[in-house]
Amino acid sequence: MILEEYIKILAQEDKLVTVKKGISKNLDIAGVLKSIEPQPALFENLIDSDFRVAGNLFCTKAQIADYFGIAVEDIIPTLTRAIENRSSPDVVDEAPCQEVIREEVDLDTLPILIHNKVDGGPYISSGVVVTSDPEFGQNLDFHRAMQIGKDRMVIRVVKGRDFHKFLERNSEIDVAFCIGNTPEVLIAAATSVETGIDELEIANALRSIRVTKAKTVDLLIPADCEFVLEGRVVLQEKHDEGPFIDLTETVDVIRQEPTFQVRKITHRKNAIWQALLPGRAEHKILMGMPREPTVYKSIKDAGIDVLDVNITPGGASWLHVAVKVRKKHEDEGLKAIEAAFAGHRSAKHVWVYDEDIDIYNEEEREWAMATRFQADIDLLIKDKEPGSSLDPSAESGTKMTTKCGFDCTKILDAKGKSYEKAEFPKVDLQDFLGDY
Ligand SMILES: Cc1cc2nc3c(=O)[nH]c(=O)nc-3n(C[C@H](O)[C@H](O)[C@H](O)COP(=O)(O)O)c2cc1C
Repeated sequence: MILEEYIKILAQEDKLVTVKKGISKNLDIAGVLKSIEPQPALFENLIDSDFRVAGNLFCTKAQIADYFGIAVEDIIPTLTRAIENRSSPDVVDEAPCQEVIREEVDLDTLPILIHNKVDGGPYISSGVVVTSDPEFGQNLDFHRAMQIGKDRMVIRVVKGRDFHKFLERNSEIDVAFCIGNTPEVLIAAATSVETGIDELEIANALRSIRVTKAKTVDLLIPADCEFVLEGRVVLQEKHDEGPFIDLTETVDVIRQEPTFQVRKITHRKNAIWQALLPGRAEHKILMGMPREPTVYKSIKDAGIDVLDVNITPGGASWLHVAVKVRKKHEDEGLKAIEAAFAGHRSAKHVWVYDEDIDIYNEEEREWAMATRFQADIDLLIKDKEPGSSLDPSAESGTKMTTKCGFDCTKILDAKGKSYEKAEFPKVDLQDFLGDY
Protein backbone atom coordinates (compact mmCIF):
# COMPACT_ATOMS: atom_id res chain seq x y z
CA MET A 1 0.00 0.00 0.00
CA ILE A 2 1.24 3.54 -0.66
CA LEU A 3 0.92 6.35 1.85
CA GLU A 4 -1.75 8.19 -0.15
CA GLU A 5 -4.00 5.10 -0.27
CA TYR A 6 -3.60 4.58 3.47
CA ILE A 7 -4.44 8.24 4.13
CA LYS A 8 -7.56 7.91 1.93
CA ILE A 9 -8.67 4.90 3.99
CA LEU A 10 -8.14 6.89 7.22
CA ALA A 11 -10.29 9.70 5.77
CA GLN A 12 -13.06 7.28 4.70
CA GLU A 13 -13.09 5.80 8.20
CA ASP A 14 -13.29 9.31 9.70
CA LYS A 15 -9.97 8.86 11.48
CA LEU A 16 -8.09 11.69 9.75
CA VAL A 17 -7.91 15.38 10.64
CA THR A 18 -7.61 17.29 7.36
CA VAL A 19 -6.13 20.77 7.74
CA LYS A 20 -7.10 22.94 4.77
CA LYS A 21 -5.98 26.32 6.17
CA GLY A 22 -2.54 27.63 5.25
CA ILE A 23 0.10 26.45 7.73
CA SER A 24 3.87 26.76 8.07
CA LYS A 25 6.43 23.95 8.19
CA ASN A 26 8.23 26.12 10.73
CA LEU A 27 6.88 24.99 14.17
CA ASP A 28 3.13 25.15 13.39
CA ILE A 29 2.71 21.66 11.88
CA ALA A 30 4.64 20.08 14.78
CA GLY A 31 2.49 22.06 17.24
CA VAL A 32 -0.76 20.79 15.71
CA LEU A 33 0.47 17.18 15.52
CA LYS A 34 1.53 17.27 19.18
CA SER A 35 -1.84 18.71 20.25
CA ILE A 36 -3.95 16.10 18.45
CA GLU A 37 -1.64 13.09 18.97
CA PRO A 38 -2.32 10.17 18.33
CA GLN A 39 -4.83 11.28 15.70
CA PRO A 40 -3.41 11.24 12.14
CA ALA A 41 -3.46 14.50 10.17
CA LEU A 42 -3.02 15.68 6.59
CA PHE A 43 -1.93 19.28 5.97
CA GLU A 44 -3.11 20.19 2.50
CA ASN A 45 -1.97 23.78 2.20
CA LEU A 46 1.52 24.75 3.31
CA ILE A 47 2.40 28.43 3.03
CA ASP A 48 6.10 27.63 2.58
CA SER A 49 6.14 24.52 0.36
CA ASP A 50 4.16 23.13 -2.59
CA PHE A 51 3.89 19.71 -0.96
CA ARG A 52 1.37 18.25 1.46
CA VAL A 53 2.46 16.87 4.85
CA ALA A 54 1.00 13.96 6.84
CA GLY A 55 1.79 13.03 10.42
CA ASN A 56 0.83 10.92 13.46
CA LEU A 57 0.21 8.06 11.01
CA PHE A 58 1.47 5.17 13.12
CA CYS A 59 1.40 6.37 16.74
CA THR A 60 -0.13 3.27 18.29
CA LYS A 61 0.23 -0.48 17.95
CA ALA A 62 -3.49 -0.54 17.04
CA GLN A 63 -2.83 1.72 14.00
CA ILE A 64 -0.05 -0.62 12.87
CA ALA A 65 -2.11 -3.76 13.49
CA ASP A 66 -5.01 -2.18 11.52
CA TYR A 67 -2.66 -1.42 8.63
CA PHE A 68 -1.65 -5.09 8.41
CA GLY A 69 -5.19 -6.30 9.15
CA ILE A 70 -4.07 -8.23 12.24
CA ALA A 71 -4.79 -8.09 15.99
CA VAL A 72 -2.36 -6.21 18.27
CA GLU A 73 -1.34 -9.51 19.95
CA ASP A 74 -0.31 -10.86 16.54
CA ILE A 75 2.30 -8.12 15.99
CA ILE A 76 5.18 -9.99 17.70
CA PRO A 77 4.54 -13.32 15.87
CA THR A 78 4.12 -11.44 12.55
CA LEU A 79 7.41 -9.57 12.97
CA THR A 80 9.18 -12.74 14.12
CA ARG A 81 8.00 -14.60 11.01
CA ALA A 82 9.12 -11.75 8.75
CA ILE A 83 12.61 -11.63 10.30
CA GLU A 84 12.94 -15.41 9.92
CA ASN A 85 11.38 -15.79 6.44
CA ARG A 86 12.89 -12.91 4.52
CA SER A 87 12.24 -12.67 0.78
CA SER A 88 13.52 -10.54 -2.10
CA PRO A 89 11.22 -7.76 -3.35
CA ASP A 90 10.38 -7.44 -7.06
CA VAL A 91 12.63 -4.99 -8.91
CA VAL A 92 10.79 -2.55 -11.20
CA ASP A 93 12.17 -0.11 -13.81
CA GLU A 94 9.41 2.50 -13.55
CA ALA A 95 8.94 3.70 -10.01
CA PRO A 96 6.42 6.16 -8.55
CA CYS A 97 9.12 7.65 -6.28
CA GLN A 98 10.92 8.79 -9.46
CA GLU A 99 7.91 10.28 -11.30
CA VAL A 100 9.57 13.68 -10.85
CA ILE A 101 13.34 14.01 -11.14
CA ARG A 102 14.34 17.49 -10.01
CA GLU A 103 16.87 19.35 -12.19
CA GLU A 104 18.19 21.31 -9.28
CA VAL A 105 18.74 20.28 -5.66
CA ASP A 106 17.06 22.81 -3.39
CA LEU A 107 16.13 21.44 0.01
CA ASP A 108 14.33 24.72 0.83
CA THR A 109 11.50 23.67 -1.50
CA LEU A 110 10.77 20.56 0.60
CA PRO A 111 8.59 20.66 3.74
CA ILE A 112 11.47 19.82 6.08
CA LEU A 113 9.96 20.77 9.43
CA ILE A 114 11.29 22.78 12.30
CA HIS A 115 9.75 20.86 15.19
CA ASN A 116 10.73 22.90 18.21
CA LYS A 117 12.26 26.28 19.09
CA VAL A 118 15.41 24.62 20.45
CA ASP A 119 16.12 22.71 17.20
CA GLY A 120 19.43 23.45 15.46
CA GLY A 121 17.58 23.69 12.11
CA PRO A 122 14.98 22.01 9.91
CA TYR A 123 15.08 18.23 10.41
CA ILE A 124 14.13 15.13 8.46
CA SER A 125 12.97 12.74 11.20
CA SER A 126 11.22 9.97 9.23
CA GLY A 127 14.02 9.25 6.73
CA VAL A 128 14.93 5.63 6.09
CA VAL A 129 18.52 5.49 4.87
CA VAL A 130 19.49 2.88 2.30
CA THR A 131 23.21 2.26 2.02
CA SER A 132 25.58 -0.50 0.97
CA ASP A 133 28.98 -2.01 1.74
CA PRO A 134 31.02 -4.06 -0.80
CA GLU A 135 31.16 -7.06 1.57
CA PHE A 136 27.88 -6.85 3.51
CA GLY A 137 25.53 -5.54 0.81
CA GLN A 138 22.57 -3.26 1.49
CA ASN A 139 21.37 -2.00 4.87
CA LEU A 140 18.44 0.11 6.10
CA ASP A 141 18.57 2.42 9.15
CA PHE A 142 16.82 5.52 10.42
CA HIS A 143 18.99 8.62 10.76
CA ARG A 144 17.75 12.09 11.57
CA ALA A 145 19.20 14.75 9.28
CA MET A 146 19.52 18.49 9.87
CA GLN A 147 19.52 20.83 6.89
CA ILE A 148 22.64 23.05 6.77
CA GLY A 149 22.41 24.39 3.19
CA LYS A 150 20.41 24.14 -0.03
CA ASP A 151 22.05 20.78 -0.79
CA ARG A 152 23.74 19.74 2.48
CA MET A 153 22.64 18.04 5.64
CA VAL A 154 24.35 16.70 8.75
CA ILE A 155 23.17 13.32 10.02
CA ARG A 156 23.24 11.66 13.43
CA VAL A 157 25.00 8.30 13.22
CA VAL A 158 25.22 6.44 16.54
CA LYS A 159 28.37 4.29 16.92
CA GLY A 160 27.54 0.60 16.52
CA ARG A 161 24.84 1.05 13.90
CA ASP A 162 25.47 -0.89 10.69
CA PHE A 163 25.65 2.40 8.82
CA HIS A 164 28.39 3.57 11.21
CA LYS A 165 30.32 0.32 10.56
CA PHE A 166 29.96 0.85 6.80
CA LEU A 167 31.18 4.45 7.11
CA GLU A 168 34.21 3.42 9.16
CA ARG A 169 35.10 0.72 6.60
CA ASN A 170 34.62 2.95 3.53
CA SER A 171 35.10 6.49 4.98
CA GLU A 172 32.56 7.83 2.45
CA ILE A 173 29.49 6.12 1.15
CA ASP A 174 26.53 6.58 -1.21
CA VAL A 175 23.10 6.83 0.41
CA ALA A 176 19.44 7.24 -0.46
CA PHE A 177 17.23 8.92 2.15
CA CYS A 178 13.70 7.61 1.55
CA ILE A 179 10.83 9.62 3.03
CA GLY A 180 7.14 8.70 3.09
CA ASN A 181 7.25 4.98 3.78
CA THR A 182 4.53 2.63 4.98
CA PRO A 183 5.02 0.33 8.00
CA GLU A 184 6.60 -2.56 6.06
CA VAL A 185 9.66 -0.42 5.40
CA LEU A 186 9.50 1.68 8.58
CA ILE A 187 9.43 -1.35 10.87
CA ALA A 188 12.01 -3.32 8.89
CA ALA A 189 14.39 -0.34 8.99
CA ALA A 190 14.09 -0.20 12.77
CA THR A 191 14.93 -3.87 13.36
CA SER A 192 18.45 -4.65 14.46
CA VAL A 193 19.47 -7.83 12.71
CA GLU A 194 22.81 -9.36 11.80
CA THR A 195 25.02 -7.11 9.65
CA GLY A 196 24.65 -8.29 6.06
CA ILE A 197 20.89 -8.76 6.18
CA ASP A 198 19.09 -6.36 3.84
CA GLU A 199 16.11 -5.14 5.83
CA LEU A 200 14.18 -4.58 2.58
CA GLU A 201 13.79 -8.38 2.57
CA ILE A 202 12.18 -8.20 6.03
CA ALA A 203 9.87 -5.47 4.70
CA ASN A 204 8.92 -7.67 1.75
CA ALA A 205 8.16 -10.59 4.07
CA LEU A 206 5.81 -8.36 6.09
CA ARG A 207 3.91 -7.46 2.93
CA SER A 208 5.14 -7.46 -0.69
CA ILE A 209 6.97 -4.29 -1.67
CA ARG A 210 8.67 -3.22 -4.90
CA VAL A 211 12.16 -1.78 -5.23
CA THR A 212 13.87 0.17 -7.98
CA LYS A 213 17.38 1.37 -8.82
CA ALA A 214 18.20 4.84 -7.53
CA LYS A 215 19.06 7.39 -10.24
CA THR A 216 22.61 8.43 -9.27
CA VAL A 217 23.76 5.84 -6.73
CA ASP A 218 24.01 2.05 -7.01
CA LEU A 219 21.26 1.22 -4.51
CA LEU A 220 17.86 -0.48 -4.59
CA ILE A 221 15.25 1.72 -2.92
CA PRO A 222 11.54 1.26 -2.02
CA ALA A 223 9.80 2.08 -5.33
CA ASP A 224 6.62 3.34 -3.67
CA CYS A 225 8.00 5.81 -1.14
CA GLU A 226 7.17 9.49 -1.60
CA PHE A 227 10.57 11.28 -1.76
CA VAL A 228 14.18 10.16 -2.29
CA LEU A 229 17.28 12.24 -1.56
CA GLU A 230 20.33 10.64 -3.15
CA GLY A 231 23.92 11.59 -2.36
CA ARG A 232 27.08 10.85 -0.43
CA VAL A 233 27.97 10.85 3.25
CA VAL A 234 31.57 11.60 4.22
CA LEU A 235 32.66 10.43 7.69
CA GLN A 236 35.45 12.99 8.15
CA GLU A 237 33.51 16.01 6.83
CA LYS A 238 31.84 16.89 10.11
CA HIS A 239 29.47 19.65 11.17
CA ASP A 240 27.57 20.62 14.34
CA GLU A 241 24.44 18.43 14.62
CA GLY A 242 21.67 19.48 17.00
CA PRO A 243 20.21 20.42 19.32
CA PHE A 244 17.24 18.12 18.66
CA ILE A 245 14.76 16.25 20.82
CA ASP A 246 15.67 12.60 21.26
CA LEU A 247 13.64 9.52 22.15
CA THR A 248 13.62 10.31 25.88
CA GLU A 249 11.92 13.68 25.09
CA THR A 250 15.00 15.49 26.44
CA VAL A 251 17.07 17.86 24.31
CA ASP A 252 20.08 16.09 22.83
CA VAL A 253 23.47 17.83 22.87
CA ILE A 254 25.27 19.30 19.85
CA ARG A 255 27.79 16.84 18.36
CA GLN A 256 30.17 16.82 15.41
CA GLU A 257 28.56 14.41 12.92
CA PRO A 258 29.13 13.42 9.25
CA THR A 259 27.67 15.52 6.43
CA PHE A 260 25.41 14.39 3.60
CA GLN A 261 25.88 16.02 0.19
CA VAL A 262 22.50 15.77 -1.59
CA ARG A 263 22.98 15.26 -5.34
CA LYS A 264 19.54 14.34 -6.61
CA ILE A 265 15.95 14.69 -5.42
CA THR A 266 13.19 12.53 -6.89
CA HIS A 267 9.56 12.25 -5.80
CA ARG A 268 6.01 11.29 -6.71
CA LYS A 269 3.92 13.78 -8.72
CA ASN A 270 1.70 14.66 -5.77
CA ALA A 271 4.10 13.58 -3.10
CA ILE A 272 3.20 13.67 0.61
CA TRP A 273 5.92 14.42 3.13
CA GLN A 274 5.90 12.21 6.23
CA ALA A 275 6.30 14.16 9.47
CA LEU A 276 7.35 12.29 12.61
CA LEU A 277 7.51 14.06 15.97
CA PRO A 278 10.83 13.35 17.71
CA GLY A 279 10.44 11.71 21.12
CA ARG A 280 6.68 11.35 20.73
CA ALA A 281 4.47 8.27 20.32
CA GLU A 282 5.27 7.37 16.70
CA HIS A 283 9.04 7.62 17.28
CA LYS A 284 8.62 5.48 20.41
CA ILE A 285 6.53 2.80 18.71
CA LEU A 286 8.98 2.51 15.82
CA MET A 287 11.95 2.21 18.16
CA GLY A 288 10.57 -0.18 20.78
CA MET A 289 8.17 -2.45 18.91
CA PRO A 290 10.75 -4.01 16.53
CA ARG A 291 12.83 -5.04 19.60
CA GLU A 292 9.96 -7.01 21.16
CA PRO A 293 10.37 -10.04 18.81
CA THR A 294 14.13 -10.24 19.53
CA VAL A 295 13.51 -10.17 23.30
CA TYR A 296 10.72 -12.75 22.92
CA LYS A 297 12.97 -15.05 20.85
CA SER A 298 15.89 -14.74 23.26
CA ILE A 299 13.68 -15.78 26.22
CA LYS A 300 12.12 -18.60 24.21
CA ASP A 301 15.57 -19.85 23.14
CA ALA A 302 16.49 -19.97 26.86
CA GLY A 303 13.81 -22.67 27.19
CA ILE A 304 11.27 -20.49 29.00
CA ASP A 305 7.56 -20.43 28.15
CA VAL A 306 7.34 -16.72 27.29
CA LEU A 307 3.83 -15.38 26.58
CA ASP A 308 4.32 -11.69 25.76
CA VAL A 309 6.82 -8.80 25.77
CA ASN A 310 6.04 -5.09 26.13
CA ILE A 311 8.72 -2.43 25.72
CA THR A 312 6.83 0.15 27.75
CA PRO A 313 6.18 3.76 26.63
CA GLY A 314 7.01 5.11 30.12
CA GLY A 315 10.55 3.79 29.66
CA ALA A 316 10.83 5.84 26.45
CA SER A 317 9.84 2.66 24.57
CA TRP A 318 13.47 1.64 24.74
CA LEU A 319 14.89 1.32 28.27
CA HIS A 320 12.16 -0.69 30.05
CA VAL A 321 10.94 -4.20 29.23
CA ALA A 322 7.94 -6.02 30.77
CA VAL A 323 7.80 -9.77 30.16
CA LYS A 324 5.01 -12.26 30.79
CA VAL A 325 5.97 -15.93 31.34
CA ARG A 326 4.37 -19.21 32.34
CA LYS A 327 6.91 -20.17 35.01
CA LYS A 328 7.64 -23.89 35.40
CA HIS A 329 10.85 -23.79 37.47
CA GLU A 330 11.71 -21.47 40.32
CA ASP A 331 14.78 -19.95 38.60
CA GLU A 332 12.98 -19.03 35.37
CA GLY A 333 12.11 -15.48 36.45
CA LEU A 334 15.79 -14.54 36.83
CA LYS A 335 16.74 -16.53 33.71
CA ALA A 336 14.11 -14.61 31.72
CA ILE A 337 15.67 -11.32 32.92
CA GLU A 338 19.13 -12.39 31.64
CA ALA A 339 17.63 -13.53 28.32
CA ALA A 340 15.68 -10.26 27.90
CA PHE A 341 18.90 -8.24 28.33
CA ALA A 342 20.60 -10.49 25.74
CA GLY A 343 17.72 -9.78 23.32
CA HIS A 344 17.86 -5.98 23.76
CA ARG A 345 21.31 -4.67 24.72
CA SER A 346 20.03 -1.12 25.33
CA ALA A 347 17.46 -2.23 27.93
CA LYS A 348 18.14 -0.90 31.40
CA HIS A 349 15.36 -2.37 33.59
CA VAL A 350 13.43 -5.60 33.03
CA TRP A 351 10.36 -6.89 34.92
CA VAL A 352 9.10 -10.46 34.69
CA TYR A 353 5.45 -11.26 35.51
CA ASP A 354 3.17 -14.28 35.72
CA GLU A 355 0.48 -15.03 33.16
CA ASP A 356 -2.34 -13.52 35.27
CA ILE A 357 -0.81 -10.02 35.10
CA ASP A 358 -1.78 -7.57 32.34
CA ILE A 359 1.64 -6.24 31.32
CA TYR A 360 0.01 -3.27 29.55
CA ASN A 361 -1.56 -2.05 32.81
CA GLU A 362 0.75 0.02 35.04
CA GLU A 363 -1.37 -0.51 38.15
CA GLU A 364 -1.40 -4.31 37.78
CA ARG A 365 2.33 -4.37 37.17
CA GLU A 366 2.92 -2.35 40.34
CA TRP A 367 0.56 -4.66 42.25
CA ALA A 368 2.56 -7.70 41.14
CA MET A 369 5.78 -6.04 42.24
CA ALA A 370 4.27 -5.08 45.59
CA THR A 371 2.89 -8.56 46.33
CA ARG A 372 5.32 -10.98 44.62
CA PHE A 373 8.78 -9.39 44.70
CA GLN A 374 11.49 -9.77 47.38
CA ALA A 375 14.61 -7.70 46.69
CA ASP A 376 17.10 -10.09 48.36
CA ILE A 377 16.26 -13.00 46.03
CA ASP A 378 14.31 -11.51 43.09
CA LEU A 379 16.57 -8.61 42.12
CA LEU A 380 19.28 -9.10 39.51
CA ILE A 381 21.86 -6.30 39.23
CA LYS A 382 24.28 -6.04 36.31
CA ASP A 383 26.89 -3.57 37.43
CA LYS A 384 28.28 -1.18 34.79
CA GLU A 385 27.56 -2.66 31.38
CA PRO A 386 27.34 -0.89 28.01
CA GLY A 387 23.78 0.48 27.77
CA SER A 388 21.92 3.00 25.68
CA SER A 389 23.41 6.22 24.29
CA LEU A 390 19.94 7.71 24.85
CA ASP A 391 19.97 7.35 28.65
CA PRO A 392 20.98 10.74 30.09
CA SER A 393 22.05 9.04 33.34
CA ALA A 394 24.49 6.64 31.63
CA GLU A 395 28.19 7.54 31.79
CA SER A 396 28.65 10.10 29.03
CA GLY A 397 30.89 8.99 26.18
CA THR A 398 31.07 5.31 27.21
CA LYS A 399 27.28 4.56 27.59
CA MET A 400 28.21 2.47 30.71
CA THR A 401 25.17 1.96 32.92
CA THR A 402 23.94 -0.27 35.76
CA LYS A 403 21.12 -2.53 34.63
CA CYS A 404 18.73 -4.43 36.85
CA GLY A 405 15.85 -6.85 36.61
CA PHE A 406 12.89 -7.52 38.90
CA ASP A 407 11.45 -11.02 39.11
CA CYS A 408 7.82 -10.25 40.01
CA THR A 409 6.62 -13.83 39.59
CA LYS A 410 5.09 -15.65 42.56
CA ILE A 411 6.97 -18.63 44.04
CA LEU A 412 5.71 -21.93 42.66
CA ASP A 413 5.32 -23.61 46.03
CA ALA A 414 3.14 -20.98 47.73
CA LYS A 415 3.14 -22.78 51.13
CA GLY A 416 -0.21 -21.54 52.35
CA LYS A 417 0.25 -18.00 51.00
CA SER A 418 -2.39 -16.52 48.74
CA TYR A 419 -1.09 -14.78 45.63
CA GLU A 420 -4.35 -14.53 43.72
CA LYS A 421 -6.73 -11.57 43.77
CA ALA A 422 -9.96 -12.56 45.53
CA GLU A 423 -13.02 -12.53 43.28
CA PHE A 424 -16.24 -10.81 44.30
CA PRO A 425 -19.58 -12.49 43.58
CA LYS A 426 -20.76 -12.01 39.98
CA VAL A 427 -24.35 -10.72 39.88
CA ASP A 428 -26.69 -9.54 37.20
CA LEU A 429 -27.30 -5.89 38.18
CA GLN A 430 -30.62 -5.93 36.33
CA ASP A 431 -31.93 -8.31 39.02
CA PHE A 432 -31.36 -5.80 41.82
CA LEU A 433 -31.22 -2.36 40.27
CA GLY A 434 -33.34 -2.70 37.15
CA ASP A 435 -32.45 -0.05 34.51
CA TYR A 436 -30.52 2.12 36.96
C1 LIG B 1 12.20 7.33 14.09
C2 LIG B 1 13.58 6.82 14.35
C3 LIG B 1 14.66 7.68 14.33
C4 LIG B 1 15.96 7.21 14.55
N1 LIG B 1 17.01 8.08 14.47
C5 LIG B 1 18.28 7.62 14.55
C6 LIG B 1 19.39 8.50 14.35
O1 LIG B 1 19.23 9.68 14.11
N2 LIG B 1 20.63 7.96 14.42
C7 LIG B 1 20.86 6.64 14.67
O2 LIG B 1 22.02 6.21 14.68
N3 LIG B 1 19.83 5.80 14.91
C8 LIG B 1 18.55 6.24 14.84
N4 LIG B 1 17.49 5.40 15.04
C9 LIG B 1 17.73 4.00 15.45
C10 LIG B 1 18.19 3.08 14.36
O3 LIG B 1 17.84 3.43 13.07
C11 LIG B 1 17.64 1.68 14.63
O4 LIG B 1 17.95 1.31 15.93
C12 LIG B 1 18.13 0.64 13.67
O5 LIG B 1 17.44 -0.52 13.97
C13 LIG B 1 19.58 0.30 13.76
O6 LIG B 1 19.77 -0.71 12.80
P1 LIG B 1 21.14 -1.48 12.61
O7 LIG B 1 21.19 -2.49 13.72
O8 LIG B 1 20.98 -2.07 11.24
O9 LIG B 1 22.27 -0.51 12.69
C14 LIG B 1 16.17 5.84 14.84
C15 LIG B 1 15.10 4.97 14.87
C16 LIG B 1 13.80 5.44 14.63
C17 LIG B 1 12.67 4.47 14.66
